[in-house]
Amino acid sequence: MRIDVLSIFPEYLEPLRLSLIGKAVTDGLLQLTVTDPRAFATDRHRTVDDTPYGGGAGMVMKPEPWAQALESVLGAQDDAAASRPVLVVPSPAGEVFTQEIAYELAAEEHLVFACGRYEGIDERFLEWAGREVRVRPLSLGDYVLNGGEVAVLAMTEAVTRLIPGVIGNPESLAEESHTGGLLEYPVYTKPAAWREREVPETLLSGHHGRIARWRRVQQLARTARRRPDMVLALDPATLDRADLAV
Ligand code: ADE
Repeated sequence: MRIDVLSIFPEYLEPLRLSLIGKAVTDGLLQLTVTDPRAFATDRHRTVDDTPYGGGAGMVMKPEPWAQALESVLGAQDDAAASRPVLVVPSPAGEVFTQEIAYELAAEEHLVFACGRYEGIDERFLEWAGREVRVRPLSLGDYVLNGGEVAVLAMTEAVTRLIPGVIGNPESLAEESHTGGLLEYPVYTKPAAWREREVPETLLSGHHGRIARWRRVQQLARTARRRPDMVLALDPATLDRADLAV
């Protein structure tokens, strides 16, 4: 997979060089570039933003430097492999990013992220970009950040860990929260007793059937308590008789 990030604060994206994403780059599973639209601004002050037409608070990112930055990464793409890239635009006004969307993006060959700052990027940039790429405005959640960079760190991590080979043990993906519609069950490790607290006895029993049932009950109870919206959205066909007794 190839990921290009457009940001006027490239240092913000440095954590992408660390840990599992950094290793995916070193291992050749991921190609990653960060491009600063400011490099394409032509005036003496390298201006990338201006006041909004119609008035109002804050600044709006100018379309031209962003268009040129996008053209530079699209021009550098390997044409033989080229399906139309997805342009992710992090924004509190986007569709909420979910694990399902992470899986969709992980199946793409080429993602470009355009990190707006302040009040966002001039709408004409997004309209124009739609000719070359599939534009997807995505929000991390119902709160406002100062810009898209933190959202890109979160989304990139959620997406790249789904690329085959990035995570050492792919089985860990199957059991985690937001896969299968329920939150993950609680986990314990040694010692079996710690500060007057014991590990639930079932987990020490070695009985696989009982352990699986205990975990399932914990998942259902935890999801009902913390995320009743997820329980309401469950497909009843995924529940068995024992689940209904919880
Ligand atoms: N930029 C500002 N707020 C954001 C949010 N909630 N999600 C994604 N990008 C953002």
